[in-house]
Amino acid sequence: MKNIIDLLQWRYATKRMTGEKIPSKKINKILEAAHLAPSGIGLQPYEIIVISNPEIKKKILPIAMNQSQIVESSHLLVFAVWDEYTKERIDHVFDHLILKQNKQADSYRNQRNFAKTFFGNMSIEENFHHAAKQANIALGFAIVAAVSEGIDSTPMEGFDPMALDEFLKLSSKGLRSSMLLALGYRDQENDWNLRQEKVRKPFEEFVTFL
Ligand SMILES: Cc1cc2nc3c(=O)[nH]c(=O)nc-3n(C[C@H](O)[C@H](O)[C@H](O)COP(=O)(O)O)c2cc1C
Repeated sequence: MKNIIDLLQWRYATKRMTGEKIPSKKINKILEAAHLAPSGIGLQPYEIIVISNPEIKKKILPIAMNQSQIVESSHLLVFAVWDEYTKERIDHVFDHLILKQNKQADSYRNQRNFAKTFFGNMSIEENFHHAAKQANIALGFAIVAAVSEGIDSTPMEGFDPMALDEFLKLSSKGLRSSMLLALGYRDQENDWNLRQEKVRKPFEEFVTFL
């Protein structure tokens, strides 16, 4: 495998894609990487909706500022997060954990109660922001996994979340869209962003060693 830094230098926010299909094996690897991301108390308060249907992508185009990656991507991932950390959702996570680890029903009692109190003391909007922060870690994992498979991607917040939620009927599932990730292959001829130098703030402004 190539050096991780070389791989991350190779990636860039791809503005134009070719529309070529990504093999499902690679898509599944990218999704599995997101699935393996850590989250606060292991709650994974998010889901991913995978859109490859061109007709659906066409309908999302105007909701996402007509950004061409929406229709030129192979797959468009919608990161959809819990609109609220309900007690039922928290119980569901811990019940599943206990089942998978073959533990006693009252294992994790303290963590379960802590989660219910911690999130119950927040406003619903704070719940959403907390969930969106968790989802962004999974998004980062997906981007890095894509790079390792030679797949380009663009994280996108340039869309109208309320319109997308309505289009995808997310509120009926208690979800709200937080980010999009377009996955595909760079259009080498037409992507102006490919030839831009990658610029980051000076390293010494970024890191403090104590
Ligand atoms: C939270 C977030 C939102 C972004 N939204 C968009 C977007 O809507 N459209 C787009 O083309 N790029 C989007 N980007 C890509 C950034 O503009 C890009 O990552 C940044 O300029 C650094 O360039 P690089 O990724 O090519 O190194 C977004 C990136 C992040 C992390």
